Amino acid sequence: MTRPLVALLPGDGIGKDVVREGKRLLAHLEKTRSVALDLWDLDLGADRYLKDGTTYPKEIRARIESEAKAVLLGALGDPRVPGLEHARDILFGLRFGLDLYANVRPVKALDDRLVPLKGKGAKDVDFVVFRENTEGIYVGMGGQFKRGTADEIAINEDVNTRKGVERLIRAGFEYAKKNGKKTVHMADKSNAMKHAHELWYRAFFEIAKEYPGIEPKHVYVDALCLYLVQDPSPFEVVVTCNLFGDIVTDLGAGLQGGLGMAGSANIHASDPSRVALFEPVHGSAPPLAGKDLANPFACFLTIGMMLTHLGFENVEQDIEALVGRGIRERKCTRDVGGELGTKAVTDWFIDAFR
Ligand code: NAD
Ligand code: IPM
Ligand code: MN
Repeated sequence: MTRPLVALLPGDGIGKDVVREGKRLLAHLEKTRSVALDLWDLDLGADRYLKDGTTYPKEIRARIESEAKAVLLGALGDPRVPGLEHARDILFGLRFGLDLYANVRPVKALDDRLVPLKGKGAKDVDFVVFRENTEGIYVGMGGQFKRGTADEIAINEDVNTRKGVERLIRAGFEYAKKNGKKTVHMADKSNAMKHAHELWYRAFFEIAKEYPGIEPKHVYVDALCLYLVQDPSPFEVVVTCNLFGDIVTDLGAGLQGGLGMAGSANIHASDPSRVALFEPVHGSAPPLAGKDLANPFACFLTIGMMLTHLGFENVEQDIEALVGRGIRERKCTRDVGGELGTKAVTDWFIDAFR
């Protein structure tokens, strides 16, 4: 098998810390599990942008599109670039440019200790959010008028296409079908957003008819937030729009031990052979950057998802199991109740990985 080309994009802040550790894990997996990848380091992010203005150059974009099988991203966002223009160019350049319409974000607690809800444990927190990833309020359509005056106007258009909504909803049902899930929830605000989310509502129940064994359930996104902190156990698969998916998955991260525990995949769900983007849900956490404080587990779980995408069997489940053990045995960082630094967690992880 030829080695799949994987672009590594550490980016900014703790993105650099966790992708550096992720690279060490990948080197270990090459030796022990024959995970042979062709790694391609990308020097993109705030440092590069501040040095020479580069954000997401077209030669790199072209090689990713034509040759790479996956991109592993750390995080983007740096206080020295307050407008975040580099972050949007790169992150949205990848998500939109590669048409990665499904942002798949598992919310799974790997130990009871990580679940902050009274009387609830790991068995109650296990669902996957399918976040629409190429449309919505994120497309950047809109503008400002009379900026800086008392009469200023700011508009961000919320773009929802039938095709875009349908393919994301279908991805959620397909996942449910493959994984024996009995329900799919769709979270919207069709009560307030009567044009855009009426489309989501209608498309959802129409598509649900193609999946007779799976019960479609509608929930308003505000109520979903309530239910998730009361009792997340009924939820198996949640499909939702770009913005709500972003917010709900940070809430979800809170149920699984924090952002240091949440991995994600950005995929073109109907064609898994296409290049995909993998990133922890967390951002660049500037106050932790470069201090050996970042939890590398979200990145390791993300690497697991990436290796499944690349066709390596069983590695993802072994990574997940070992992360769970790391939590149980307190071989973890402070955010999840341990005392180890980022590097020491990786040392332990690599040593324990069989
Ligand atoms: P953040 O995810 O960076 O941090 C939120 C909180 O979670 C902080 O308390 C942080 O310390 C903690 N945290 C996050 N990851 C952690 C880890 N691995 N280990 C331990 N603790 C962790 O979100 P923010 O502070 O709102 O944003 C910081 C920057 O990151 C902003 O510029 C934002 O736009 C950007 N961001 C980027 C991405 C991405 O690149 N995909 C995602 C989210 C935020
Ligand atoms: C995420 C982040 C991004 C998003 C930001 C950095 C634009 O919060 O990946 O969750 O909103 O998608
Ligand atoms: Mn987010």
